[in-house]
Amino acid sequence: MTNVERTAVIILLYISLSSTVLALTYYCNQLQTVQVSNQENGTISTLELGKAEYDNNVLCKWVIDAGEDNRIHFTVTSTELQWAPSYALCDSYDLLDIKDGNAETSPSIFTMCGERNPYSLLTSGRYAYLKFSTNDQNPYKYSYSGVTLTFQTFPADQCPPGWKQLTSEPFCYSIPDKPDGGADWSSAQHFCNYNQANLIVMKNESDFSLIQGYGVGKGIDAAWIGLSDISHESRFQWLDNTHTTFSKFTGSNPDGEDMDCVVQDFNAGKWLIKHCEREKFPYICKTVKGNKTTILGLPEDKNLDDAAADSSFIIAITLGVLAGLVVVIGSLAVYCYIQGKRHNRRKQSQSRTEETSLRTIDDSHSSRPNRRHWFNTTHTIDRLDDRPEPSAPHDATGPPSYAEALGDSQHRPYDFSLS
Ligand SMILES: *[C@@H]1O[C@H](CO)[C@@H](O)[C@H](O)[C@H]1NC(C)=O
Ligand SMILES: *[C@@H]1O[C@H](CO)[C@@H](O)[C@H](O)[C@H]1NC(C)=O
Ligand SMILES: *[C@@H]1O[C@H](CO)[C@@H](O)[C@H](O)[C@H]1NC(C)=O
Repeated sequence: MTNVERTAVIILLYISLSSTVLALTYYCNQLQTVQVSNQENGTISTLELGKAEYDNNVLCKWVIDAGEDNRIHFTVTSTELQWAPSYALCDSYDLLDIKDGNAETSPSIFTMCGERNPYSLLTSGRYAYLKFSTNDQNPYKYSYSGVTLTFQTFPADQCPPGWKQLTSEPFCYSIPDKPDGGADWSSAQHFCNYNQANLIVMKNESDFSLIQGYGVGKGIDAAWIGLSDISHESRFQWLDNTHTTFSKFTGSNPDGEDMDCVVQDFNAGKWLIKHCEREKFPYICKTVKGNKTTILGLPEDKNLDDAAADSSFIIAITLGVLAGLVVVIGSLAVYCYIQGKRHNRRKQSQSRTEETSLRTIDDSHSSRPNRRHWFNTTHTIDRLDDRPEPSAPHDATGPPSYAEALGDSQHRPYDFSLS
């Protein structure tokens, strides 16, 4: 073997070794679907190979197949997407949609756009479908690096990477370390949901002890649990709508009307009632091994019901006032109509008298103006009929379509800087 051959063999060995040991990166391939199968782990980058920023009008997809009886766990490692308002649909912005299945029609687990970030995600089965699409509105000086996420496949009869099975029962638990500084209560439930899990629901004291041990082991002070009195003041319910069969509240803990959600305080080994939306804490998620967990809905807010009752009262009053107005305006209209008719009748009888007097003066001229009038009218109608019908889409007076309105609002931030 010559030196050159030896070097070549070493390089080949190195390449084949590194490709099995190192996780591969799957870049965006414009208008293509990147197929990823039989890879235990890897990285998805929404950038095209060799680029540092993504372009306008990109569309690329990935289908990951983890193999039979496997699932896929994702972690978002970085995200930088075009600005999008937090209340808007992602559809008209640059977005990465991550779906639970292998087809465009599979249900979406999360759609990332603007600052929206699920931090981590879990498929219920062997497939994941990712679609990255950008619009045509990123001028050169506003360029973004897109999203990078890593994935890891694991057998469905095990807990997802980073999740713990705490007993012999087939449950998995996690106290995620994202987002930094924790989340409000309802966001915490959503973050659990992206991982096919719910905030912890405890059925008995041994569940409580289990979680207490887990939290203390994690070295955190407190974390949200799936307990609240959001739907009925002072009546605490778990997310599965069951009442708690045991209590770990301290006697001195105030239950203010605007404090409805519960954290487990790991230092005291007690439950504390906190502001659901104003306070942020870490949170405890629980899921069932193997199967997709039933995602539990957030409780109906008793205050929203009150607000709805208030607004229906206001609507009733408004309708009453409107009805009154309609009656008044209607009577006025009828009155005007009758007055107008009377006036017309008076005018007609007046002109009839004039006509009669004219006819008596010159009989031959009296029909002429009428004929000419008739002719002129038909002529005008013909001309109107020849004119092409204005078509609806070009009607400048119509309201903008939904897409036009969105497109317009989207233009604004860039229009400033370009002018
Ligand atoms: C990624 O998968 C390969 C096998 O495909 C494995 O050797 C490697 O340890 C994995 N890396 C991580 C970080 O899990
Ligand atoms: C406590 O409840 C959990 C369900 O949350 C159940 O799996 C467990 O067996 C129960 N333990 C006892 C001792 O009743
Ligand atoms: C999922 O649930 C079904 C019944 O609901 C059960 O037959 C099946 O074994 C479960 N799969 C796993 C992997 O636990």
